[in-house]
Amino acid sequence: MRVRYEHHSALPRIRVECCLCIADMVTASAPCYNDAAPHDRCAPRISNDQARAAIPFTFAMNPESLLQPHVRGLAPYIPILPFEALSRKLGRAPETLLKLDANENPYGPLPAVLDALRTYPYYHIYPDPQQNELRDALAASLGVPASLILPTHGADEMIDLLCRLFLGPDDHVLNCPPTFGMYEFDTALQGAHVVDVPRLADFAVDVAAIERCACYGEDAGTQSPKLLFLTSPNNPSGNLLPDDDLRRLLALPSLIVLDEAYIDFADAPSRAPWVLDHPNLVVLRTFSKAAGIAGLRLGYGICPPWLMPHLLTFKQPYNVNVAATVAGLATLRHSDEVAAVVERIKATRGRLYAGLAAIDWLRPYPSHANFILCDVLGRDARDVQRALEARGILVRYYDKPGLRNCIRISVGDEAALPVLLHELNALP
Ligand SMILES: Cc1ncc(COP(=O)(O)O)c(C=O)c1O
Repeated sequence: MRVRYEHHSALPRIRVECCLCIADMVTASAPCYNDAAPHDRCAPRISNDQARAAIPFTFAMNPESLLQPHVRGLAPYIPILPFEALSRKLGRAPETLLKLDANENPYGPLPAVLDALRTYPYYHIYPDPQQNELRDALAASLGVPASLILPTHGADEMIDLLCRLFLGPDDHVLNCPPTFGMYEFDTALQGAHVVDVPRLADFAVDVAAIERCACYGEDAGTQSPKLLFLTSPNNPSGNLLPDDDLRRLLALPSLIVLDEAYIDFADAPSRAPWVLDHPNLVVLRTFSKAAGIAGLRLGYGICPPWLMPHLLTFKQPYNVNVAATVAGLATLRHSDEVAAVVERIKATRGRLYAGLAAIDWLRPYPSHANFILCDVLGRDARDVQRALEARGILVRYYDKPGLRNCIRISVGDEAALPVLLHELNALP
């Protein structure tokens, strides 16, 4: 089947070949060129000879106009520059860069994970779409039934799945900025709307404002937000959501998505077991941070029983690849080593906090995660970020509502700490 569009003034505008296959596109002004079996709706008909004479054919219609309307104006997600690209841009070898801008784990995968990846023999076989072995291992580690766990291509995929499953144009999502950007991005992909309830000055979630907002549907005759994204510890502020706040928010008529990407670094337990008692709670976790395999893309959701069949139907069958599965299983078999790495990162975080607090133009916020957010006082945070970058140290900078003139520094390894503090102290 071929469809051509032409702008020869003497002929109809749309030329359709094999129009039976694309009857939807056939209009009264679209001629059928199928001499053998012209379709009734393709009047007026002209012969193949007439058609061949009607050259040159060009595209008079912009195929981009076929996109869904809400997709056309979408702002792209702007990721940080890939590591290798940045190393080329700075003219520095990757191993000389201190990458403290994306909250990765500087120690990388456990040795046992690298061994498991090296020796696994079945990369030519598709993964198990039900992910049973991984779900069983996660269940044993988390203490929740395997039937409530959905492994995904990073926690990001779980956020995307939830948005696609619940949202359509005109639905609403409640977001608490400043926070992780993917909630807003994935909501926009569905043409749905974000209702922002900004965090308070100390980055605590404004529970009373959310309660007012989550019930606005009753007053305005419109629907309440379907999803409410919460993050504990929050990125980029590093603070926890207290139990009492979560309990209050769980009483709202929304699905509460609690993102615990950084919970392993917190002095507080995961709320994964809460899913057993709360049918409107989903908890997100990841292997990208504490487990050090961000590049392999493995996360998971702990979901209420009614949601699991929908997610299993909705997800791509092979959403988690075999390498991620092998790495995830090996990580879970060596959870004591992960815990030791987490302790090292937490110890370095304490020393990093003290070092940052001693710099008079920085005001670090206490953090339960593997990064520290700092207000930059009396100088431009963007300049600080650029100056560090020129010295091979990559940090994240922010200047937007709720995050004015800030930098966020991921906790690196023990060797990175004195280098970072030296360069910060030496900045003019
Ligand atoms: C709060 C939060 N959730 C989720 C993610 C993404 O996790 P994953 O790498 O598993 O997709 C990140 C990544 O930085 C994050 O900060």
